[in-house]
Amino acid sequence: MSDAAKLVLGEKDAELGIRHGTIGPDVVDIAALYRDTGLFTYDPGFTSTASCESKITYIDGDEGVLLHRGYPIEQLAEKGDFLEICYLLLYGELPTQQERDDFIYRVTRHTMVHEQMTKFFSGFRRDAHPMAVMVGSVGALSAFYHDSTDITDPHQRMVASIRMVAKIPTLAAMAYKYHIGQPFVYPRNDLSYAENFLHMCFAVPCEPYQINPVLAKAMDRIFILHADHEQNASTSTVRLAGSSGANPFACIAAGVACLWGPAHGGANEAALNMLTEIGTKDRIPEFIARAKDKNDPFRLMGFGHRVYKNYDPRAKIMQQTCHEVLDELGLKDDPLLEVAMELEHIALNDPYFIEKKLYPNVDFYSGITLKALGFPTTMFTVLFAVARTVGWIAQWKEMIEDPQQRIGRPRQLYTGAPQRDYLSLDDRS
Ligand code: ACO
Repeated sequence: MSDAAKLVLGEKDAELGIRHGTIGPDVVDIAALYRDTGLFTYDPGFTSTASCESKITYIDGDEGVLLHRGYPIEQLAEKGDFLEICYLLLYGELPTQQERDDFIYRVTRHTMVHEQMTKFFSGFRRDAHPMAVMVGSVGALSAFYHDSTDITDPHQRMVASIRMVAKIPTLAAMAYKYHIGQPFVYPRNDLSYAENFLHMCFAVPCEPYQINPVLAKAMDRIFILHADHEQNASTSTVRLAGSSGANPFACIAAGVACLWGPAHGGANEAALNMLTEIGTKDRIPEFIARAKDKNDPFRLMGFGHRVYKNYDPRAKIMQQTCHEVLDELGLKDDPLLEVAMELEHIALNDPYFIEKKLYPNVDFYSGITLKALGFPTTMFTVLFAVARTVGWIAQWKEMIEDPQQRIGRPRQLYTGAPQRDYLSLDDRS
């Protein structure tokens, strides 16, 4: 393919460079378009716009492929564990045994949060949504860890990265404990990342907490499946916030805020609420009809994706994990699972969903699984934030280390009033 594209603008042509990735679509380089032609491009929702160059994650939405640093998500979920995937995302390669041990050591030595954070937490209302608490407490980290906020220092950047990965489960568990009125449980560094998280969420001081290895494995897999997903809304938010030179804790807080929305990380909570509302299989047609009705804002939650126009590869693994967890807990006949499977079956065979290429996304089965693990729906997006933190940090770090990096500053198509003169109050009708 040619390395140039021509844009014909009446009498004038503009030559645009074409850049090639290792895989995936080429991109037309329009960086100089405004300088050369005085025109902007218009792409609300960024459906045709590559906002950056990245080596971290690749998605082929038509084929249902997700690769981290070139490795398929199916292999990572089956053979890896979450901290190994964290290392891969942050450093670009799978760790050797020595590198792995060293990384785990560093992460586990940063799991506690400043004791003063407990006082910070007690300022929140008990009935606050845990995501509201996360937005506040993650942002507050920059007030507690000043010594890793100089983004020009590579060592401080790495310390901040490790701190974020290590402390976010502790904050998430604290948000949960605060919400239900139980005492905070300190992290245990002898446990794996997922085991420690379950322990901090479900242990109480008055009796020993037994970790179920099947459930810990499921938790780890949920973290792996949500670790990174290319330039999605929250990741782009983190990059945009970071492009101004803001410190990494503040940037991750911005990512948490964006993730909260029901079209993004809030979808697993919304999907479970929807399944609960449907309740029984016989009510499915009514909800399918509503999803198809143009005059009804209702959408099938956990269905559809901006990039995947095929089965989300994470949804398949999530479905399998869901079955493993329900089997282990003796909940095979869970009515929500029955509704979910039937709904999926009906939607996948319905012309509306086929035509629009709407398939289940990762959130469709994660809600049922998380509920079975013992989490209330209000915690679902929090768990997503715990997992995605490493992706946000890896993408933020990549951006800061990119010599091409400039502040993100999109332009607009202005359709407001043209210039006009100020009218005094008496002259306004
Ligand atoms: N149910 C019914 N119809 C849908 C759904 C759905 N879940 N999703 C999309 N459609 C329809 C739209 O109405 C639209 O129809 P039209 O062409 O007749 O107007 C068409 O499919 C395209 O939809 P868009 O909203 O333009 O697609 P977009 O890429 O902007 O949105 C999104 C993707 C936000 C994920 C959307 O599919 C959705 O709202 N899904 C439900 C929420 C959800 O599950 N989000 C989780 C995303 S995954 C994640 O964050 C981990």
